[in-house]
Amino acid sequence: MPENPFLAALHCKNHGRPPVWLMRQAGRYLPEYRAIRERHTFLEMCHQCEVAAEVTRLPVQILGVDAAILFADILLILEPFKRGLRFEEGVGPLFERPVRNAEDVAQLPSFSVEESLGFVEKTIRLLKKDLTVPLIGFAGAPFTVASYLIEGRSSQDLKKTRQWIYRDPESFHRLLEVIADYTIAYLRMQAQAGAQALQIFDSWANFLGPQHFHSFSRHYIQKVLDGLRDLSVPIIIFARGSSMHAEEWIPLRPSAISLDWTCDLVQLRRKIPHEICLQGNFDPFLLYAPLETIQKNVLSTLKKMKSEKGYIANLGHGISPDVSVDAVRTFVDTVKNS
Ligand code: CP3
Repeated sequence: MPENPFLAALHCKNHGRPPVWLMRQAGRYLPEYRAIRERHTFLEMCHQCEVAAEVTRLPVQILGVDAAILFADILLILEPFKRGLRFEEGVGPLFERPVRNAEDVAQLPSFSVEESLGFVEKTIRLLKKDLTVPLIGFAGAPFTVASYLIEGRSSQDLKKTRQWIYRDPESFHRLLEVIADYTIAYLRMQAQAGAQALQIFDSWANFLGPQHFHSFSRHYIQKVLDGLRDLSVPIIIFARGSSMHAEEWIPLRPSAISLDWTCDLVQLRRKIPHEICLQGNFDPFLLYAPLETIQKNVLSTLKKMKSEKGYIANLGHGISPDVSVDAVRTFVDTVKNS
C-alpha cells in the first residue's frame, strides 16, 4: 500500500487524516509567485524548466501541502498547432488564429509530443530529483481544450463551439479525436517522466446538454482514460457541473472524481462506489471568510467524511488570485491537524 496519504487516498486505502492540496496552489496569491512572474511572461515560466520546477515546489515549501501539481497550463498542448497562443494581462488566453471549421481542422499540423512538449518532461525530471511529495501531472479534457482553440479567448457561453456542434458535428468530432490522441501521448510522457498521478480538467463541459455531454465530452475523456489504463497511474477527473454529471463518470472507472462546490459531498459519497476516491469540494470563496470561519467549515466537512479511506481535501475550483496566504494556510493547517 502506498505510504503517502495522497497516493493512499487515490487507492481508497488512507487511514489517517485526509491529504490536502489545492487547485492553482502555485499561483498569483503567493507573493513568491508574483516576484518570479515580474521577471517572465506566463508562457516563459512554463517553458523554462528551472523556473517551472521552482514554482511547482513553492506551495510544498510554503504551505506543506501533501501533493505538488506541475506548473504548466492545459493550453500548452495547443502551442504546436501554431495558432498564435498568448496570455494577455487581465484578459487570459488568446488565440490569434482560432480554429473555426473543417478546413482549419484539416490544416492542423502533426507534431511529436516528445519534441514539442519535451520541456514539460524535462521539468518533471528535474522535480523528481528532490520533490518530497507526489507530483500530479495534468491535461485539459479534449472538449475544454478545443473550446479555447475555437472561441479564441475565454467565453461566457461557448457560442462558437456549440454552433459548430450543430452545424458540422463530423468535423468537430475530428478535432476532438486529434486532441484526444495528443492528450494520451502527452499524459503518457508525463507519467513516464515520473508524475505519480494525473488530473484531467474538464472545466467547460457543463455548458453542454446531456446528449452533447455524452458524445462530445465524456466519450473523449473515456478515450483518454482507456489510452492510459496500461500505465496503472491513478487518474483524477475534475469536472465543473458535478451536481449534474458526477455519477456519469463512474463507468469510466477513474481513480478519483474531483467535485466542484455546487454539489453535496456527503450525498455523492453515498452514490459513488467506494473504489472511487472523491476530491474537493470546498467553495473557493470560503478563503475570503474570517480565519475562524474557514476552520469551522473545514472541520465540519471533515467530521462528515471521517474514516473515509478515499477522500482528498481540496477546493471545488482554483484558488482566486486575491485571497490571502493566511487564509490558504489556515485551510491547509486545519486539514493537517484534524
Ligand atoms: O497551480 C496549479 O494548479 C498548476 C498550474 C495550472 C495553471 N493552470 C497555471 C496558470 C493548472 C492546473 C491550470 C489549469 C487550467 N488552465 C485550466 C483548468 C482549471 C480551471 O481553471 O478551470 C484552465 C481552464 C486553464 C486556462 C487558463 N490559464 C486560463 C483561463 C487562464 C487565465 C485566467 C487566470 O486564472 O488567470 C490561465 C492562466 C494561468 N494558468 C495562470 C496560472 C498560474 C495565471 C497566469 C498569470 O500569472 O498571469
